[in-house]
Amino acid sequence: MNINEIKSQFPIFSKKINGKQLVYLDSSNSSQKPLSVINRLNDFYKNEFSNIGRSIHSLAVNATNKFEETRVGVKNFINAKFKEEIIFTKNATEAINLVATTFGQKYIKDGDEIIITELEHHSNYVPWNFLRENKKAIIKFAPINEDGDIVISKLQELITSKTKIIAVSHLSNVTGTIVPIKEIIEIARKKNVPVLVDGCQSVPHISVDVSDLDCDFYAFSGHKVYGPTGVGILYAKKKWLEKLPPYIGGGAMISEVKKDKITYAPLPEKYEAGTMPTAEVITFNESIKFIKSIGMDNLIKHEKEITNYALEKLKKINSLKIIGNPKNKAGVIAFTLKGVHPHDIATILDEDGVAIRAGHHCCQILHERLNLTATARASIGIYNTKEDIDILCKAIENCRKVLDLK
Ligand code: ALA
Repeated sequence: MNINEIKSQFPIFSKKINGKQLVYLDSSNSSQKPLSVINRLNDFYKNEFSNIGRSIHSLAVNATNKFEETRVGVKNFINAKFKEEIIFTKNATEAINLVATTFGQKYIKDGDEIIITELEHHSNYVPWNFLRENKKAIIKFAPINEDGDIVISKLQELITSKTKIIAVSHLSNVTGTIVPIKEIIEIARKKNVPVLVDGCQSVPHISVDVSDLDCDFYAFSGHKVYGPTGVGILYAKKKWLEKLPPYIGGGAMISEVKKDKITYAPLPEKYEAGTMPTAEVITFNESIKFIKSIGMDNLIKHEKEITNYALEKLKKINSLKIIGNPKNKAGVIAFTLKGVHPHDIATILDEDGVAIRAGHHCCQILHERLNLTATARASIGIYNTKEDIDILCKAIENCRKVLDLK
C-alpha cells in the first residue's frame, strides 16, 4: 500500500495552514475527503440532481436508484442481512435519538433501567437522559478502570429484570479503547436485553459485521468514514423497525392519509420522512468504494503502525501523559502536558500546521471519571504518516519551549 499515493487523493493536503504543511490529526472529529468523494458530490449536483422517491421523470428515477445503491452498499459494508435494515438519518446522533425516542415511547416506563458506560460520547447519553426526564427511567453507568477498559463483570452485575436496553460505544473517542462488544452482546443476549452500539469511531477504523456481532442497533456517521456531512446511518434489526413507532412524521413516510387515520410506509421509508440528504447519501457510496479500494485489512495495519509509532514517540516527551492504556487501542491518543491547558497546546500546535482537538471531546463523564476537565487529542486516519507524527512531536516540544516548561 502506497500511503503517499493515498494521501495525494486528498486535495486538502496540498494546502498550507498558517504557512505550514497540514498535519491533520483530528479524524475522530471528522475525516478529510478524497477527490473521488468530492467529485461525486459535485457531479451529482451538476449532472444528475433530482429529489428521490416522488417524481417519475428520468432524473428522479436515476437519483432514487442511486440512493438505493448506497443503501445496498452500506448493507454489504457492515454485513446486514436486509437493505431495509439500513435507515439514513442526518448524523449518528439523530440515529441514536431515533432509537431512544421510539424505543422509549414503546418500551420504557417509570423505573425501567438503561445501561450505558462511562466511556460514552454525549450523543449516547443525552438521548437516554430524555427518558430519565420524561419517563422516570434510571440510567446506570457501567464503570471503566484507570486504563479506560469497561469492567465487564460490573456491567454484567448492573443487568436486572428492569434493564430494557444497553447502549455502548464500540470505540472510545478519547482513550481509543476498542470495546469487546461481542462479549457484551453475548451477555445481554442471555438476559434478553437488546443492545445499541455507537459505532461512530469504529466503522472508519475496524471491520464491522453487524450480523456476526448480532447487535440490535448500530449507529454511525458518514463524515468520519471519508464521506460527506449530513449522512448518518442506523442499522436496526428488521423486527425492531417493524415493531417501533415512526420517528419523524411528514411526506414520504406514509402509506395512506385519511382525515381519521394515517398508515405508515413500509421499511425503510417509514423512518425517512421529508427530503433526505439526497446528494450526500448518494455520495457516501463513493466513500465505501474508497475504503474498499484500500482494503480494511491494509487500513487497519497502517493505522496500527502509525499509532504504535506515535505512542512510542509521545511517551518520550517530558511531562506528557497519555490518557488510558486499554487492552486493545485504536489510533485515538488523548494526552495532557503538565501545567498547560489543552486549548493552549492546540492553539500553539495550530501555528505549526498541526490540527488536533482539545477539550472534553463531548465526554464529560469520562473526563470526570479520570479526574480531568480536558485533554488534547491526536487522532489518526488513513492519510497519516510517520512524518506527521514527527512533526506533531516537534510541535509539542516547541510548545514546551514557548511556554518555558521544565
Ligand atoms: N466529534 C466527536 C469527536 O471529536 C465525536 O470526538
